[in-house]
Amino acid sequence: MNQLQLFLPCAAGVEALLATEVQRVTGIEGKAWRAGVQLQASWRDALQLNLHSRLAQRVLIELQHNQYRSEQDLYNAAANVAWEIWFTPKQTFKVEITAQHSPLQSLNFAALKIKDAIADRFRAKFDDVRPSVDTRWPDVRVYVHLTTDNVTIYIDTSGEPLFKRGWREDKGDAPLKETLAAAMIAASGWDQLCKDGVPLYDPCCGSGTIAIEAAQIACNIAPGINRRFAFQKYLPFQAHVWDGLLDQAEAAITESTAPVFGSDVSFRMVDFAERNAERAGVANAVEFRGGDALQRMPPAPSGVMLVNPPYGERIDVAGVA
Ligand SMILES: C[S@@+](CC[C@H](N)C(=O)[O-])C[C@H]1O[C@@H](n2cnc3c(N)ncnc32)[C@H](O)[C@@H]1O
Repeated sequence: MNQLQLFLPCAAGVEALLATEVQRVTGIEGKAWRAGVQLQASWRDALQLNLHSRLAQRVLIELQHNQYRSEQDLYNAAANVAWEIWFTPKQTFKVEITAQHSPLQSLNFAALKIKDAIADRFRAKFDDVRPSVDTRWPDVRVYVHLTTDNVTIYIDTSGEPLFKRGWREDKGDAPLKETLAAAMIAASGWDQLCKDGVPLYDPCCGSGTIAIEAAQIACNIAPGINRRFAFQKYLPFQAHVWDGLLDQAEAAITESTAPVFGSDVSFRMVDFAERNAERAGVANAVEFRGGDALQRMPPAPSGVMLVNPPYGERIDVAGVA
Protein backbone atom coordinates (compact mmCIF):
# COMPACT_ATOMS: atom_id res chain seq x y z
CA MET A 1 0.00 0.00 0.00
CA ASN A 2 3.02 2.26 0.06
CA GLN A 3 3.11 3.55 -3.45
CA LEU A 4 -0.37 4.26 -4.66
CA GLN A 5 -1.03 6.37 -7.69
CA LEU A 6 -3.45 9.08 -6.54
CA PHE A 7 -5.46 11.47 -8.67
CA LEU A 8 -7.20 14.47 -7.09
CA PRO A 9 -9.68 16.11 -9.48
CA CYS A 10 -10.30 19.83 -9.03
CA ALA A 11 -12.00 22.72 -10.81
CA ALA A 12 -10.27 23.87 -13.99
CA GLY A 13 -7.78 26.64 -13.16
CA VAL A 14 -7.16 25.38 -9.61
CA GLU A 15 -4.54 22.73 -10.53
CA ALA A 16 -1.42 24.74 -9.54
CA LEU A 17 -2.98 25.81 -6.23
CA LEU A 18 -3.93 22.19 -5.53
CA ALA A 19 -0.40 20.99 -6.33
CA THR A 20 0.92 23.48 -3.73
CA GLU A 21 -1.64 22.25 -1.20
CA VAL A 22 -0.75 18.59 -1.89
CA GLN A 23 2.91 19.43 -1.25
CA ARG A 24 2.02 21.15 2.02
CA VAL A 25 -0.14 18.25 3.25
CA THR A 26 2.06 15.30 2.15
CA GLY A 27 5.48 16.77 1.36
CA ILE A 28 5.14 15.16 -2.09
CA GLU A 29 5.44 17.04 -5.36
CA GLY A 30 2.38 16.16 -7.42
CA LYS A 31 2.00 16.68 -11.15
CA ALA A 32 -0.67 19.17 -12.19
CA TRP A 33 -2.75 17.90 -15.11
CA ARG A 34 -5.84 19.41 -16.66
CA ALA A 35 -8.45 19.50 -13.87
CA GLY A 36 -6.45 17.54 -11.32
CA VAL A 37 -3.20 16.61 -9.62
CA GLN A 38 -1.50 13.21 -9.75
CA LEU A 39 0.99 11.88 -7.22
CA GLN A 40 2.60 8.71 -5.91
CA ALA A 41 1.74 8.40 -2.24
CA SER A 42 0.83 6.06 0.60
CA TRP A 43 -2.58 5.02 1.91
CA ARG A 44 -1.89 7.27 4.92
CA ASP A 45 -1.29 10.20 2.52
CA ALA A 46 -4.64 9.45 0.86
CA LEU A 47 -6.32 9.73 4.27
CA GLN A 48 -4.43 12.93 5.09
CA LEU A 49 -5.45 14.48 1.76
CA ASN A 50 -9.11 13.67 2.40
CA LEU A 51 -8.82 15.28 5.82
CA HIS A 52 -6.78 18.34 4.85
CA SER A 53 -7.42 19.23 1.21
CA ARG A 54 -9.61 22.30 0.73
CA LEU A 55 -9.23 22.35 -3.07
CA ALA A 56 -9.63 18.76 -4.29
CA GLN A 57 -13.05 17.43 -5.29
CA ARG A 58 -12.13 13.90 -4.21
CA VAL A 59 -9.15 11.59 -3.73
CA LEU A 60 -9.04 8.72 -6.24
CA ILE A 61 -6.68 5.74 -6.30
CA GLU A 62 -5.71 4.57 -9.78
CA LEU A 63 -6.04 0.78 -10.03
CA GLN A 64 -5.67 0.19 -13.75
CA HIS A 65 -4.45 2.06 -16.81
CA ASN A 66 -4.64 0.24 -20.15
CA GLN A 67 -5.10 0.67 -23.81
CA TYR A 68 -8.52 -0.38 -25.11
CA ARG A 69 -10.38 -0.66 -28.39
CA SER A 70 -13.59 -2.42 -27.44
CA GLU A 71 -15.99 -3.00 -24.55
CA GLN A 72 -14.39 -6.42 -24.06
CA ASP A 73 -11.03 -4.69 -23.42
CA LEU A 74 -12.74 -2.65 -20.69
CA TYR A 75 -14.18 -5.85 -19.20
CA ASN A 76 -10.70 -7.43 -19.18
CA ALA A 77 -9.09 -4.34 -17.64
CA ALA A 78 -11.65 -4.26 -14.79
CA ALA A 79 -11.51 -8.05 -14.31
CA ASN A 80 -7.75 -7.82 -13.72
CA VAL A 81 -8.12 -5.46 -10.73
CA ALA A 82 -7.86 -7.15 -7.31
CA TRP A 83 -11.13 -5.62 -6.06
CA GLU A 84 -11.24 -8.13 -3.22
CA ILE A 85 -8.39 -6.33 -1.42
CA TRP A 86 -10.53 -3.17 -1.28
CA PHE A 87 -14.04 -4.33 -0.43
CA THR A 88 -16.19 -7.38 0.24
CA PRO A 89 -19.07 -8.90 -1.76
CA LYS A 90 -21.44 -7.79 1.02
CA GLN A 91 -20.83 -4.14 0.14
CA THR A 92 -22.49 -2.13 -2.61
CA PHE A 93 -20.83 -0.31 -5.48
CA LYS A 94 -21.46 2.02 -8.39
CA VAL A 95 -19.54 2.65 -11.62
CA GLU A 96 -19.29 6.20 -12.97
CA ILE A 97 -17.80 6.77 -16.39
CA THR A 98 -16.51 9.85 -18.19
CA ALA A 99 -14.97 10.05 -21.65
CA GLN A 100 -13.07 12.32 -23.96
CA HIS A 101 -13.19 11.35 -27.63
CA SER A 102 -13.96 7.70 -26.91
CA PRO A 103 -14.77 5.74 -30.07
CA LEU A 104 -17.30 3.57 -28.17
CA GLN A 105 -20.96 3.87 -29.12
CA SER A 106 -22.48 3.85 -25.65
CA LEU A 107 -20.94 4.89 -22.34
CA ASN A 108 -23.79 3.19 -20.49
CA PHE A 109 -22.89 -0.10 -22.10
CA ALA A 110 -19.20 0.47 -21.29
CA ALA A 111 -20.12 1.08 -17.62
CA LEU A 112 -22.24 -2.08 -17.66
CA LYS A 113 -19.30 -4.16 -18.91
CA ILE A 114 -17.11 -2.83 -16.12
CA LYS A 115 -19.82 -3.51 -13.55
CA ASP A 116 -20.11 -7.09 -14.90
CA ALA A 117 -16.34 -7.59 -14.70
CA ILE A 118 -16.28 -6.52 -11.03
CA ALA A 119 -19.27 -8.71 -10.16
CA ASP A 120 -17.84 -11.71 -12.07
CA ARG A 121 -14.48 -11.39 -10.33
CA PHE A 122 -16.18 -11.52 -6.92
CA ARG A 123 -18.39 -14.41 -8.01
CA ALA A 124 -15.37 -16.43 -9.05
CA LYS A 125 -13.57 -15.78 -5.76
CA PHE A 126 -16.48 -15.94 -3.29
CA ASP A 127 -18.58 -18.95 -4.29
CA ASP A 128 -20.91 -17.10 -6.61
CA VAL A 129 -21.47 -14.23 -4.17
CA ARG A 130 -21.17 -10.72 -5.65
CA PRO A 131 -21.61 -7.17 -4.42
CA SER A 132 -24.85 -5.40 -5.41
CA VAL A 133 -25.08 -2.16 -7.27
CA ASP A 134 -26.46 0.86 -5.40
CA THR A 135 -26.65 3.96 -7.58
CA ARG A 136 -27.70 6.31 -4.74
CA TRP A 137 -25.67 5.47 -1.64
CA PRO A 138 -22.98 2.99 -2.70
CA ASP A 139 -20.28 1.93 -0.25
CA VAL A 140 -17.76 2.02 -3.10
CA ARG A 141 -17.59 4.33 -6.10
CA VAL A 142 -15.57 3.20 -9.09
CA TYR A 143 -14.57 5.93 -11.55
CA VAL A 144 -13.63 5.10 -15.12
CA HIS A 145 -12.14 7.59 -17.53
CA LEU A 146 -11.84 6.86 -21.25
CA THR A 147 -9.76 8.74 -23.76
CA THR A 148 -9.42 7.84 -27.44
CA ASP A 149 -7.45 4.70 -26.63
CA ASN A 150 -6.79 4.56 -22.87
CA VAL A 151 -8.94 3.45 -19.96
CA THR A 152 -8.11 4.44 -16.38
CA ILE A 153 -9.98 2.82 -13.50
CA TYR A 154 -10.03 4.42 -10.04
CA ILE A 155 -11.51 3.59 -6.67
CA ASP A 156 -12.78 6.67 -4.85
CA THR A 157 -11.67 7.13 -1.23
CA SER A 158 -13.80 10.20 -0.47
CA GLY A 159 -17.44 9.15 -0.92
CA GLU A 160 -19.44 12.35 -0.79
CA PRO A 161 -17.44 15.00 -2.69
CA LEU A 162 -14.96 16.88 -0.53
CA PHE A 163 -16.72 20.24 -0.86
CA LYS A 164 -19.26 18.73 1.52
CA ARG A 165 -17.43 19.55 4.73
CA GLY A 166 -20.29 18.54 6.98
CA TRP A 167 -21.11 21.97 8.43
CA ARG A 168 -23.43 23.50 5.83
CA GLU A 169 -27.04 22.82 6.69
CA ASP A 170 -28.39 26.30 6.01
CA LYS A 171 -27.93 27.79 2.57
CA GLY A 172 -29.39 30.44 0.26
CA ASP A 173 -30.21 30.19 -3.44
CA ALA A 174 -26.69 30.37 -4.84
CA PRO A 175 -24.17 29.04 -2.34
CA LEU A 176 -20.57 28.86 -3.46
CA LYS A 177 -18.95 25.43 -3.31
CA GLU A 178 -16.57 25.27 -0.35
CA THR A 179 -13.75 24.09 -2.66
CA LEU A 180 -14.25 27.16 -4.86
CA ALA A 181 -14.34 29.54 -1.89
CA ALA A 182 -11.09 27.95 -0.72
CA ALA A 183 -9.62 28.41 -4.22
CA MET A 184 -10.52 32.14 -4.12
CA ILE A 185 -8.79 32.44 -0.76
CA ALA A 186 -5.70 30.58 -1.97
CA ALA A 187 -5.56 32.61 -5.21
CA SER A 188 -5.74 35.87 -3.22
CA GLY A 189 -2.79 34.78 -1.07
CA TRP A 190 -4.79 35.34 2.14
CA ASP A 191 -4.07 31.79 3.32
CA GLN A 192 -0.51 33.13 3.88
CA LEU A 193 -1.39 36.75 4.78
CA CYS A 194 -3.63 35.55 7.63
CA LYS A 195 -0.52 34.42 9.47
CA ASP A 196 0.38 38.13 9.79
CA GLY A 197 -3.09 39.04 11.03
CA VAL A 198 -4.39 40.60 7.78
CA PRO A 199 -8.22 40.88 7.99
CA LEU A 200 -10.58 39.31 5.41
CA TYR A 201 -14.04 40.63 4.54
CA ASP A 202 -16.88 39.24 2.38
CA PRO A 203 -19.55 41.96 2.01
CA CYS A 204 -22.10 39.64 0.26
CA CYS A 205 -21.47 36.59 2.43
CA GLY A 206 -24.76 34.71 1.92
CA SER A 207 -24.54 31.52 3.97
CA GLY A 208 -20.95 32.43 4.88
CA THR A 209 -18.90 30.04 2.74
CA ILE A 210 -15.89 32.29 2.06
CA ALA A 211 -15.76 33.67 5.60
CA ILE A 212 -16.15 30.23 7.21
CA GLU A 213 -13.48 28.67 5.01
CA ALA A 214 -11.22 31.63 5.86
CA ALA A 215 -11.89 31.37 9.59
CA GLN A 216 -11.10 27.65 9.53
CA ILE A 217 -7.81 28.43 7.75
CA ALA A 218 -6.99 31.10 10.36
CA CYS A 219 -7.69 28.55 13.16
CA ASN A 220 -5.91 25.71 11.32
CA ILE A 221 -9.05 23.55 11.40
CA ALA A 222 -8.85 20.63 8.95
CA PRO A 223 -11.73 20.90 6.44
CA GLY A 224 -12.64 17.20 6.74
CA ILE A 225 -12.66 17.01 10.52
CA ASN A 226 -16.48 16.94 10.71
CA ARG A 227 -17.36 14.33 8.10
CA ARG A 228 -17.14 10.69 7.13
CA PHE A 229 -15.29 9.24 4.12
CA ALA A 230 -15.73 6.19 1.88
CA PHE A 231 -12.32 4.81 2.91
CA GLN A 232 -13.71 4.15 6.40
CA LYS A 233 -15.61 1.19 4.90
CA TYR A 234 -12.70 -0.23 2.88
CA LEU A 235 -10.68 -3.30 3.85
CA PRO A 236 -7.31 -1.49 4.24
CA PHE A 237 -8.90 0.91 6.77
CA GLN A 238 -7.44 0.76 10.26
CA ALA A 239 -9.38 2.77 12.82
CA HIS A 240 -6.33 3.43 15.01
CA VAL A 241 -4.42 5.02 12.11
CA TRP A 242 -7.36 7.27 11.28
CA ASP A 243 -7.96 8.17 14.94
CA GLY A 244 -4.27 9.13 15.17
CA LEU A 245 -4.62 11.49 12.19
CA LEU A 246 -7.78 13.01 13.66
CA ASP A 247 -6.05 13.50 17.03
CA GLN A 248 -3.15 15.26 15.29
CA ALA A 249 -5.58 17.51 13.43
CA GLU A 250 -7.45 18.33 16.65
CA ALA A 251 -4.20 19.14 18.45
CA ALA A 252 -3.14 21.51 15.63
CA ILE A 253 -6.18 23.79 16.03
CA THR A 254 -5.21 27.27 17.24
CA GLU A 255 -6.80 30.58 18.14
CA SER A 256 -7.58 32.57 15.00
CA THR A 257 -4.55 34.40 13.62
CA ALA A 258 -6.57 37.04 11.73
CA PRO A 259 -9.99 38.71 11.94
CA VAL A 260 -12.66 37.53 9.47
CA PHE A 261 -15.85 39.46 8.67
CA GLY A 262 -18.95 38.77 6.61
CA SER A 263 -22.07 40.78 5.97
CA ASP A 264 -25.17 40.47 3.82
CA VAL A 265 -28.18 42.64 3.04
CA SER A 266 -30.41 39.70 3.97
CA PHE A 267 -30.68 39.13 7.74
CA ARG A 268 -31.92 35.61 7.03
CA MET A 269 -28.59 34.87 5.32
CA VAL A 270 -26.65 36.33 8.24
CA ASP A 271 -28.57 34.00 10.52
CA PHE A 272 -27.71 31.03 8.26
CA ALA A 273 -24.05 32.05 8.17
CA GLU A 274 -23.89 32.25 11.96
CA ARG A 275 -25.41 28.81 12.35
CA ASN A 276 -23.04 27.33 9.76
CA ALA A 277 -20.06 28.97 11.49
CA GLU A 278 -21.15 27.42 14.78
CA ARG A 279 -21.19 23.93 13.20
CA ALA A 280 -17.82 24.60 11.52
CA GLY A 281 -16.27 25.39 14.91
CA VAL A 282 -15.51 29.03 14.06
CA ALA A 283 -18.37 30.93 15.74
CA ASN A 284 -15.80 32.96 17.72
CA ALA A 285 -13.43 33.48 14.80
CA VAL A 286 -15.78 35.23 12.38
CA GLU A 287 -18.09 38.21 12.80
CA PHE A 288 -21.27 38.39 10.70
CA ARG A 289 -23.52 41.45 10.34
CA GLY A 290 -26.50 42.55 8.30
CA GLY A 291 -26.21 45.51 5.96
CA ASP A 292 -26.05 46.79 2.41
CA ALA A 293 -22.54 46.42 1.00
CA LEU A 294 -22.89 49.77 -0.76
CA GLN A 295 -23.64 51.62 2.48
CA ARG A 296 -21.76 49.75 5.21
CA MET A 297 -18.42 51.06 6.38
CA PRO A 298 -15.67 48.44 5.95
CA PRO A 299 -15.02 46.54 9.18
CA ALA A 300 -11.24 47.20 9.06
CA PRO A 301 -9.09 50.00 7.60
CA SER A 302 -7.24 47.58 5.30
CA GLY A 303 -7.16 43.89 4.39
CA VAL A 304 -8.40 41.50 1.73
CA MET A 305 -11.95 41.68 0.38
CA LEU A 306 -13.33 38.60 -1.38
CA VAL A 307 -16.82 38.59 -2.81
CA ASN A 308 -19.13 36.26 -4.71
CA PRO A 309 -21.59 38.93 -5.82
CA PRO A 310 -25.21 38.35 -6.76
CA TYR A 311 -25.83 37.99 -10.47
CA GLY A 312 -28.74 37.86 -12.89
CA GLU A 313 -32.17 37.68 -11.30
CA ARG A 314 -30.63 37.02 -7.95
CA ILE A 315 -29.56 40.66 -7.67
CA ASP A 316 -33.21 41.69 -7.48
CA VAL A 317 -34.37 38.85 -5.29
CA ALA A 318 -31.65 39.17 -2.72
CA GLY A 319 -31.30 42.93 -3.01
CA VAL A 320 -34.96 43.38 -2.18
CA ALA A 321 -34.62 40.84 0.66
C1 LIG B 1 -24.26 34.74 -4.86
S1 LIG B 1 -24.86 35.06 -3.25
C2 LIG B 1 -23.49 34.74 -2.22
C3 LIG B 1 -23.46 33.32 -1.80
C4 LIG B 1 -22.40 33.01 -0.79
N1 LIG B 1 -21.06 33.11 -1.36
C5 LIG B 1 -22.63 31.63 -0.21
O1 LIG B 1 -21.78 30.75 -0.41
O2 LIG B 1 -23.68 31.39 0.40
C6 LIG B 1 -24.93 36.82 -3.21
C7 LIG B 1 -25.38 37.38 -1.88
O3 LIG B 1 -25.31 38.80 -1.98
C8 LIG B 1 -26.32 39.34 -1.14
N2 LIG B 1 -26.57 40.74 -1.57
C9 LIG B 1 -27.24 41.20 -2.66
N3 LIG B 1 -27.19 42.53 -2.71
C10 LIG B 1 -26.46 42.93 -1.64
C11 LIG B 1 -26.07 44.21 -1.15
N4 LIG B 1 -26.40 45.34 -1.76
N5 LIG B 1 -25.32 44.22 -0.01
C12 LIG B 1 -24.97 43.10 0.63
N6 LIG B 1 -25.34 41.87 0.21
C13 LIG B 1 -26.07 41.79 -0.91
C14 LIG B 1 -27.49 38.41 -1.33
O4 LIG B 1 -28.38 38.47 -0.22
C15 LIG B 1 -26.79 37.03 -1.46
O5 LIG B 1 -26.77 36.37 -0.22
